[in-house]
Amino acid sequence: MSDISHLKPETAQLLLLSDGERIEKIRSDRWIGYPVAQRILRKLEDLLVYPRKSRMPSMLIVGESNNGKTSLVTRFCNKHPAEDNPEGEGIIAPVLYIQSPPVPDEARLYNTLLDSVFATYKANDRVDRKQFQVVKILRYVGLKVLVIDEIHSILAGPINKQRAFLNVLKYLSNELQISIVAAGTKDAFRAMQTEPQIANRFEPAELPRWTLDENFLRLLVSFEHMLPLQLPSKLHSKSLSARLFTMCEGNIGELSRVLSDASVEAIVSKQEYITPKILDSIGWVTPSQRKRRLDTGAR
Ligand SMILES: Nc1ncnc2c1ncn2[C@@H]1O[C@H](COP(=O)(O)OP(=O)(O)OP(=O)(O)O)[C@@H](O)[C@H]1O
Ligand SMILES: [Mg+2]
Repeated sequence: MSDISHLKPETAQLLLLSDGERIEKIRSDRWIGYPVAQRILRKLEDLLVYPRKSRMPSMLIVGESNNGKTSLVTRFCNKHPAEDNPEGEGIIAPVLYIQSPPVPDEARLYNTLLDSVFATYKANDRVDRKQFQVVKILRYVGLKVLVIDEIHSILAGPINKQRAFLNVLKYLSNELQISIVAAGTKDAFRAMQTEPQIANRFEPAELPRWTLDENFLRLLVSFEHMLPLQLPSKLHSKSLSARLFTMCEGNIGELSRVLSDASVEAIVSKQEYITPKILDSIGWVTPSQRKRRLDTGAR
């Protein structure tokens, strides 16, 4: 076998698979612990061991679409899965993940929470009964951190409903003495800033767009370590890194897709490493080009 020092040992193992299986691996989720994400993860871990008190710290993870919010909170949740309760019925769940309901609706939030712990409930029960059930069950499962992804969904409702929804979150946090970790776009951040009692409980943590710097080059090296290609591509080289940066426009989701598409092409073409020519051949359309096409198409 050729030199495989461009791969992590676990990735090198994948070279033994068939081309089809390697392609499947390339298309699967990966996790790279880049510095900003690691810093936020450490903060989330701190929340988990924070002593319970009447006013618990909460966090809002802010970032544009496709820039790693869900991957980050999922990473945290997977580290702390629910387990069977050895001393009673049901589960112990220090961390729970839900997606915000698509509109700021208290009853739907309760339904989602009850579903997340597999509780049975009457869909048309009164909202105060559901709230009582939610508080009782979440206390019973020992919840410590509630993760609510896609919190910007609340913007799909009128201001008074948004406000009421945020107040429910504050109520749950106070009543259960839990931290809430919300993830959403800048618009959600702005909406939450307008409510002082929410703003001062939710510490913002940003997943910013990437810039073409040392950190981006390190990210490329990490991707290369994890993509099972037989030969080194040197993604961090000056020309390839600049090219990849232009293609992804500083967005990790876009970068991940470019590199997946290019890696698949590298396998199919038997080249076994990513070249500028391969990047030309994948028919990549940058996010801004996509948006421009949509805008002109809409006219
Ligand atoms: N830490 C990471 N390591 C490797 N790949 C990542 C990482 N974070 C994100 N990605 C890639 O970026 C893609 C988009 O990430 P993710 O779904 O977490 O974004 P998001 O911010 O939640 O987007 P949206 O706002 O649209 O829900 C993922 O499918 C994954 O391929
Ligand atoms: Mg997401």
